[in-house]
Formats: sequence, C-alpha cells, structure tokens
Amino acid sequence: MSKILIIYASTDGQTRKICQRLQQVVEQQLHRVTVVAIEDVATIDAASFDKIVIGASIRYGKHSPLIVNFIEQNRPLLESRPNAFFSVNVVARKPEKSRPEHNPYLQKFLRRISWKPGTVVVFAGKIDYPSYRPLDRFMIRLIMWMTKGPTDPNAVIEFTDWQQVEAFGHTVAAM
Ligand SMILES: Cc1cc2nc3c(=O)[nH]c(=O)nc-3n(C[C@H](O)[C@H](O)[C@H](O)COP(=O)(O)O)c2cc1C
Repeated sequence: MSKILIIYASTDGQTRKICQRLQQVVEQQLHRVTVVAIEDVATIDAASFDKIVIGASIRYGKHSPLIVNFIEQNRPLLESRPNAFFSVNVVARKPEKSRPEHNPYLQKFLRRISWKPGTVVVFAGKIDYPSYRPLDRFMIRLIMWMTKGPTDPNAVIEFTDWQQVEAFGHTVAAM
C-alpha cells in the first residue's frame, strides 16, 4: 500500500472532480490517497507521501502560478519519488490536441518548468457558459467560435473522458 498525494489547482471544479475520480480508482487498488487544493498545500507534509501527482486547469492559456511556484520550490522532492502531472483544458477536446506531445499548453508548461514529470497526461475539461462572468463567457465563446466549438451561451458541456481518467488512475496506482 502506498500513500499518494494529489495536489490540484481548479477554478470551476472540474480538475477537483477529476482528482476525486482518481482518488476512487486508486483507493480501489488499496492505496491511500490524499487530495489537496494548492491553496491548502502548506497544511500537509508532502515529503511524507510515496508518490505525488499534480493536476491543474488552463485559464487564458496558463496553469495556476501557485502550481508553478510549488513545482519550482519542490522539484527535488517531486523527482525523488514516482510522480505525474496532468493538465485540464478544452483544447484537448480535439483528438489531435489530446495527446501530451500535441497539446500546446502542456508543451509550453513543460518547457517553462525545470521538473520533468515521470508521467504527463492531458484531460479535456468542461464548458459551463451560464456560470461564467459575462466577459469570460464572451471570451470563451469567441475562442470556441474560432476553434469550431460550441457557442450556445446556455451550453454546459463536459468533454472529460472518464475512461481516460480511470485509466490514468490505474497508471498512478501502478507507478
Ligand atoms: C475564464 C476561462 C478561461 C479559460 N481559458 C482556456 C484556455 O485558454 N484554453 C483552454 O483550452 N481552455 C480554457 N478554459 C477552459 C478550462 O480549462 C476548462 O473549463 C476546465 O474544465 C476548467 O477546469 P477547472 O474547473 O478545474 O478550473 C478556460 C475557462 C475559463 C472559465
């Protein structure tokens, strides 16, 4: 049995939901999982875990700066045990952008940080237009219009492939 830490950055809850599903899958493999938001990471001792997974969503092209800071301050710790990183964004709804090597946000992020995660994954996120502030709704609809995605302002669409999330859960349990 391993003690596994999953740290996440989520603005609207989709990355947290992915972490909760990962937790279920990994705990079914009899490991113990702690899921913590990056805002609360100071409340836990990351060094007391056997494996560390970090997940973050994209907002206007960037992952959370808190996640970037945590990674830069804890690179030796991350690299001293099995580790993984996953990104959540809506560009990944497109099959050709869903692979880590072809997802522009993930590639840019990996070039920016010094950590080389042992495993990297990209998940498609969710669009929830009614819950967005007007400017955000406008901007995301514009981006969707440019990339031939849904633009109905009432649309709530979860692009996340839960089978892919479960498969990653098995990878984490085994790594
Ligand atoms: C204000 C805002 C900006 C976003 N910017 C991007 C973006 O630049 N590229 C992208 O692929 N997805 C973008 N998204 C989509 C999010 O990555 C997606 O909704 C994801 O599920 C959010 O995860 P979270 O709920 O864990 O924050 C954006 C969403 C919002 C609300």
